[in-house]
Amino acid sequence: MNLKNRDFLKETDFTKEEFEYLIDLAIELKAAKKARNEVKYMSGRSIALIFEKTSTRTRCAFEVAAFDQGAHTTYLDGASSQVGHKESVADTARVLSRYYDAIEYRGKHQAMVEELAQFSDVPVYNGLTDEWHPTQMLADFMTMMEHSGKRPGDITFTYVGDARSNMGNSLLVTSALLGSDIRIASPKQLWPAQDIQNIANELAAKSGGRITLTEDMDSALPGSDFVHTDVWVSMGESEEIWKERVELLGGYQVNDVALAKAGNADAKFMHCLPGFHNEQTTVGRAIANKTGMHEGLEVTHDVFEGPNSVVFDQAENRLHTIKAIMVATIGDK
Ligand code: CP
Ligand code: NVA
Repeated sequence: MNLKNRDFLKETDFTKEEFEYLIDLAIELKAAKKARNEVKYMSGRSIALIFEKTSTRTRCAFEVAAFDQGAHTTYLDGASSQVGHKESVADTARVLSRYYDAIEYRGKHQAMVEELAQFSDVPVYNGLTDEWHPTQMLADFMTMMEHSGKRPGDITFTYVGDARSNMGNSLLVTSALLGSDIRIASPKQLWPAQDIQNIANELAAKSGGRITLTEDMDSALPGSDFVHTDVWVSMGESEEIWKERVELLGGYQVNDVALAKAGNADAKFMHCLPGFHNEQTTVGRAIANKTGMHEGLEVTHDVFEGPNSVVFDQAENRLHTIKAIMVATIGDK
């Protein structure tokens, strides 16, 4: 499989076979790191990391993955560089392409990362936009494969909550690409936009994937191997929107009762993180005080900390999968 010089701007940049190859490569790289016999396929490479939105996992995963592989990174944000306010994406792309072997970009608009790729001579990776979160998908499907022992085409899962956002869009389209059985349980106004549903329906017709969009969590959950959720208000959305979202999504919290409805004692809980499950964050505390939801917002503290939660395995896999995409596109392997 040769993926050299390929961009990763959205999940459909890769075929099913290519996407699964990247996950299998991540599994191989994870085993090598654990065995302390990792081969450095990226010696001397440099990667620019542009973050116009904040990050813990994605930034650290790129930095540690690069370091493990003998490469190094430069972190750029709007406060410490000209990016976003003084220099256009097109100019930034042409400058950074002269210095770096690849560029990661996290920001608001998908159009920005697409433009960056258009003007860049080196691979560009989307580290999250409002529309897609493709590197997260590699980690999510890797985690589901590891915890179920199944290939993606045999996995059934439910995504509960705000589905009209990067995570809802990405899980829907990736499932359809890989042939999984995805159920989305969410109020209709928070379902993925029609054009995203169309992409997914077309892919599912080819892969044999199954798609269910429903407002009824009780009918979605039975038979799920995994239950996913995400924050109810995403980065870049206004604080004002919390009230409306809590009203819409209050009944879609992942709690013990919801998890039990999967009808499978082994059903695992997943969340891309960060998540609001307690009052140890400023936002979590403020919303809990406003809404009276003191057990957690999109997920209860009990489920988050419970034996079925695999959120930290999922977070760890960001490292191995981000390493895989870099090794495959700019490494010597
Ligand atoms: N899941 C995820 O992308 O986390 P960060 O926002 O911390 O990078
Ligand atoms: N939907 C969330 C995902 C964070 C990783 C956001 O965009 O804030």
